[in-house]
Amino acid sequence: MKELTTQNNTIKNLPIGIFDSGVGGLTVYRALHNRLPNEHFIYLGDTARVPYGTKSLSTVERYALENAVFLASRGIKMLVVACNTASALALPKIRETIGLDVVGVIGPGARKAAKIADRIGVIATEATVSSGAYEKAIKLAKETAEVIQTACPLFVPLSEEGWTQEVETFSIAKRYLSKIIEFQPEAVVLGCTHYPILRDVIQQTVGENVTLIDSGEACAEEVAELLERMNLANPNQVSGKRNLCDDLDHFYVTDAAYRFANVAERFLGAKPTKLEDIELAELKVKSKK
Ligand code: DGL
Repeated sequence: MKELTTQNNTIKNLPIGIFDSGVGGLTVYRALHNRLPNEHFIYLGDTARVPYGTKSLSTVERYALENAVFLASRGIKMLVVACNTASALALPKIRETIGLDVVGVIGPGARKAAKIADRIGVIATEATVSSGAYEKAIKLAKETAEVIQTACPLFVPLSEEGWTQEVETFSIAKRYLSKIIEFQPEAVVLGCTHYPILRDVIQQTVGENVTLIDSGEACAEEVAELLERMNLANPNQVSGKRNLCDDLDHFYVTDAAYRFANVAERFLGAKPTKLEDIELAELKVKSKK
């Protein structure tokens, strides 16, 4: 009995693993960090192989599995798939392979939207839109919901460039979102990691009366509930306010760490304290074991 309690306490102290195709998942990291200040995180950004949003199911599944196996090998208590595309295409495979609780962003975002709206717009990458994952998850939560989806691929580079207020960004948003606006939704799901960075542009384009749902924030809520339910929350209180990217969190990327650090500063206002470049080969070897 004592042994079991000690084991459980050790698990509670483990970090939560997060992976994304690159830098975009930092918006999910931010939501998790803000909601769960006592938790530590290990983040993997697959910057060598980004974007996932234009790739096929089998490729995204393979990349996502390699990322998941790598993080599991570092010792984590739970895995968050921050990438919407990987959540849409690879969640079943990851769950089948990893002996851990896995939380994606699609289910939480869809459930939150269904809770507050009947007419829902979803914006996401091409691969997420073609998978129909959001629509299925929304209809599972609310059968009568009406859903429209649109891919907004240029939002990814625009947010990485920091073009959050430019006239060009507004005109691209107007063009991408015209069908959504015509549909007159009550809520629009930001179904891609990068879109919260363009929140103001999107909100002004669809109108102030439309509620924007941030899937990363919805995911952080569900992770907090799951940690409580599973009795896995870290009991150690961190004294004072924690900063994003402090030395309790560890970041890995598969390429160009300097670029990741610069975009992190743009997205979060801070560069990761602990940031390591790993070889793609290291991911592949880990997933074969
Ligand atoms: N992280 C991806 C997502 O949320 C966007 C970037 C990509 O295409 O890889 O779908």
